[in-house]
Amino acid sequence: MVKPLPLLLLLLTINTTTSSSSSSSSSSSSEKLKRVKNKKLTHFTEYWHDIVSGPNPSGAMVAQAPTTNTSTTSFGLVRIIDNPLTKGPTMSSDLLGRAQGFYAFTSLESVGLFMAMNFIFTSGKYNGSTVTILGRDEIFTDVREMPVIGGSGLFRWAQGYAQARTSIVNMTTHDAVVKYDVHVMHY
Ligand SMILES: *[C@@H]1O[C@H](CO)[C@@H](O)[C@H](O)[C@H]1NC(C)=O
Ligand SMILES: *[C@@H]1O[C@H](CO)[C@@H](O)[C@H](O)[C@H]1NC(C)=O
Ligand SMILES: *[C@@H]1O[C@H](CO)[C@@H](O)[C@H](O)[C@H]1NC(C)=O
Repeated sequence: MVKPLPLLLLLLTINTTTSSSSSSSSSSSSEKLKRVKNKKLTHFTEYWHDIVSGPNPSGAMVAQAPTTNTSTTSFGLVRIIDNPLTKGPTMSSDLLGRAQGFYAFTSLESVGLFMAMNFIFTSGKYNGSTVTILGRDEIFTDVREMPVIGGSGLFRWAQGYAQARTSIVNMTTHDAVVKYDVHVMHY
């Protein structure tokens, strides 16, 4: 696959060197040039609800290793999630979307998760758009940083990072609320 940025830079170069000829065939690349110039930086905050207990959990364990139960770090466990994303820290707060994907316990020595999920907006100004987060979440660390590796809709071409901070965790049920601060560059 061709990496998007070099391709855009190429279009930018071609467009600059041929800017004197305004043929109709160059209009689509000048449209692209305009969008290259209009790079935006967006920051949003959401609360991610990992509901693992009770009658309606938002996650389902789909795999574990024979040694997961005796591992102090749950190594080998994989959970598929469809977690609510809300504006504030409580579930009664406005629902902004869902975080769909999975996480896997991939660390032998700390509780470190491999996260792979899409934030799917279902209301507000980003309704219908998504961002994709892929990274490492060492859950007992105060601030965990994960890359934003892409997006769709308003977040097409997105690149950025998310910072996760645990807001509430119930040590009995293991239900958790995590604040996500997401910074994305997109067109
Ligand atoms: C691990 O614990 C779960 C829940 O208690 C149980 O269902 C499962 O069979 C156990 N797995 C192994 C390999 O012992
Ligand atoms: C979000 O977008 C969908 C599809 O366009 C629409 O059906 C829905 O009503 C929108 N939701 C809100 C809360 O704006
Ligand atoms: C944790 O969850 C249990 C079961 O729902 C509840 O009884 C308890 O009050 C919760 N603890 C905290 C600190 O919220």
